[in-house]
Amino acid sequence: MKVIKFLQLTLENIKSHRDLTVNFGEETQITGDNGKGKSTIPQSIPFALYNMDAFGSKLDPTPINYDADITKASLLLEVDGKQLLLSRSLKKGKSQCYVNEVPTSATKFSELVSDLFDKDLFLSLYNPNYFFTLHWEKQRAMLLQYISAPLKKEVLKHVAEEQAKHLEPLLKKHSIEDLKELHKDKKKTLDKKYIAAQSKTKTLQEQLEHHAPTVPLESLNAELKPLLKQRKELDEIHDSASSVNGRINVLNNQINNLNKERDSMKDDWAVLKNEQPEGNCRVCKQPLQDEALEAARDDIKQRTDNFKSAFNDVIAQRTKLQEELKTLEYIDVSEQRAKLSDLQSQIEPIEKEIAKHEEYEYYLKQVEQAKTEEKECLESLNESIFILDSIKDYKAKEAELQGEKVQALFTTLSVRLFKQNKGDGEIKPDFEIEMDGKPYSKLSLSETIRAGLELSDVLSEQSELITPVFIDNAESITRFKEPIGQLITCRVVAGQELNVKAVGE
Ligand SMILES: Nc1ncnc2c1ncn2[C@@H]1O[C@H](COP(=O)(O)OP(=O)(O)OP(=O)(O)O)[C@@H](O)[C@H]1O
Ligand SMILES: [Mg+2]
Repeated sequence: MKVIKFLQLTLENIKSHRDLTVNFGEETQITGDNGKGKSTIPQSIPFALYNMDAFGSKLDPTPINYDADITKASLLLEVDGKQLLLSRSLKKGKSQCYVNEVPTSATKFSELVSDLFDKDLFLSLYNPNYFFTLHWEKQRAMLLQYISAPLKKEVLKHVAEEQAKHLEPLLKKHSIEDLKELHKDKKKTLDKKYIAAQSKTKTLQEQLEHHAPTVPLESLNAELKPLLKQRKELDEIHDSASSVNGRINVLNNQINNLNKERDSMKDDWAVLKNEQPEGNCRVCKQPLQDEALEAARDDIKQRTDNFKSAFNDVIAQRTKLQEELKTLEYIDVSEQRAKLSDLQSQIEPIEKEIAKHEEYEYYLKQVEQAKTEEKECLESLNESIFILDSIKDYKAKEAELQGEKVQALFTTLSVRLFKQNKGDGEIKPDFEIEMDGKPYSKLSLSETIRAGLELSDVLSEQSELITPVFIDNAESITRFKEPIGQLITCRVVAGQELNVKAVGE
């Protein structure tokens, strides 16, 4: 707990006060008749600190009915046992701040003050009516600043089991707000995707009906089978005929070539047959001697023998081929060809019908796939819808729990933190403080003081900051709960001069 204590306030030419020193006690009772300057005393404190009145409005306390050289308010306070003198003066409308009497720039001064305590918090604690002058969002934020939101685990315990089961793992990765945005977006996409998936299924279904085959596949296969068998047999005949006919052609070609070779050999033979050895040597032109002549004769004989043997080879080869040719007979396949073409024209339309079945199968698969995709899309869509509903319930429960948590801090006031949208049932932040079922704006003076004191008490406890509290017009309230910190009261007492009484140390 941080404790702010007021020790002494000195006023110099502040409104009706020319020179006044107030020493504060645990309770400081300021009394006097109307217009005696009671309220001016506690209101000078926000002036010294912020150059404002106790409601945060601009304040000029320069006296208007007498001349004064300087207007100055000095507050001696104690923060966690440490004393500090904070002052503000106005001289010809110009403000000057001081810290422990040392002139200090306005920026430095306000930095020092805001380091001590937050302005809105201080004013809310000090002046019980200040909080209610703030915008509701500010009021709400201030109150919730110190009150932690209910734990996820706690909220999940309070939503339906099935919803908790879905949300729990998702909330480990995302905040509830992010999760909501994520699934809102996902649902939008899936809504569109589902419509597209439905229309795809419909289109494919229509195509499938369009491709429905008329003849059953079994009868087509039964019809096709013997025709294919026939075609195979004819193909085999045709193939073997082709190989015989091909061989005949090869043999004829080879025999022809051998005949040509034989004819050319015959010409060569005529030359060789008449060849005689020459009388002279081919190199030295000398007449050949007996021995040499003999060798030339042998050479001619040798070549004649070789030629004969080569010639006989050609004849023998040809005879062999002619023998083989005699065993072969040319086969005429024109009849088979005609039959094959006739068969093909019977097979083709059947195969076309069979292809229709294959196409149908293809579309059938496509339709099945589209249906699966449509189903999966619907499942995802339903999942997102379920999660969005669960988020709504989660948020409602979270709001309820947080409301309960906040409410538990108050005794007479009731606090509303949320409202439910009429249209979509969304839970939206809101803020309303009521006393006995009546909003603040409808309360009487004493009721507003009591409401303010209770709120200031709760804020003080939650923020762990204790400041003095001032109650103006305290005569109008017969009873109220004493605040934890110092109390300053202003009371009208008829016919009395201004009196300040400090009670307690
Ligand atoms: N700038 C000023 N210069 C001089 N006097 C001022 C100035 N502003 C206000 N006054 C007067 O100072 C006097 C004290 O005012 P203050 O509000 O402190 O009186 P009060 O004791 O609280 O009166 P009440 O009982 O009516 O609440 C009043 O007569 C008021 O008119
Ligand atoms: Mg007054």
